[in-house]
Amino acid sequence: MELQKLDRYAKGLIKEAGRKIRQSFSSELAIESKADANDLVTNIDKEIEQFFIRHIRNDYQGHLILGEEGFGDRLTKLDGYVWMLDPIDGTMNFIHQQRNFAISLGIYKDGIGILGYIYDVIHDELYSAQKGHGAYLNDEPIPVLESTTISQAIIGLNASWVVPNRHIENEGLIRLVKDVRGIRSYGSAALELAYVATGRIDAYMSMRLSPWDIAGGVVIAQEVGAVATNLNGQPLKFLEQDTFLVARKSLHDSLLNDYITLK
Ligand code: IPD
Ligand code: CA
Ligand code: CA
Ligand code: CA
Repeated sequence: MELQKLDRYAKGLIKEAGRKIRQSFSSELAIESKADANDLVTNIDKEIEQFFIRHIRNDYQGHLILGEEGFGDRLTKLDGYVWMLDPIDGTMNFIHQQRNFAISLGIYKDGIGILGYIYDVIHDELYSAQKGHGAYLNDEPIPVLESTTISQAIIGLNASWVVPNRHIENEGLIRLVKDVRGIRSYGSAALELAYVATGRIDAYMSMRLSPWDIAGGVVIAQEVGAVATNLNGQPLKFLEQDTFLVARKSLHDSLLNDYITLK
């Protein structure tokens, strides 16, 4: 019962945040860069994170918040309730395209994802899941994923990882690009997770993601039978950046064993 109430509350906040983002299109964005020139943030990313935090701190005292833009709490452990929030995942798309971005939120209890949300604001599509109760796209249940093969698979992969880099052997990735049916790159880890969950792509991988990029999506993807780990095949920790792979069960081992070699 408690979980249903939290779920309704979280959905209410997400929808309200989505309205604010849509309204923001009529005013000019203030754009800044963070770690490098292509790492962008806007006043809207910050305002949306602050909107969530204001409400959560007021209505769920004792819950902690891990947010990308740093207005939340500094966490060293995942005890109790932790809200992992990316106010806009796909900021570059938000700025350049006004589409292909999402609000991403996972609610974790003692390190276990219990509620997950990805809200595609422009399409008004809310992907959600409660652990153990299946995943939904708006009010429609998302079917459990069936198995597939590498040769029939579409993989979400950022092209920059295929060129030589210091994280991963590119020979395996080049072979993967040749062996699969297709490669896609949407520029929002959260949406790519939602697409794995709905079977639009069959796997998604990244060399570096943060807890807020994946916290919501992992709960959703696992509810339909997808497997999510880091690129060493280890469980996700949600306290720091890590490599990431989510795939249909039938592809996960093959991707790790036959194509991915970390340096
Ligand atoms: C980014 C997006 C992108 C991924 C980056 C993330 P942001 O999130 O998810 O697809 O490749 O690693 O940082 O910064 O737009 O929230
Ligand atoms: Ca960012
Ligand atoms: Ca993100
Ligand atoms: Ca973000």
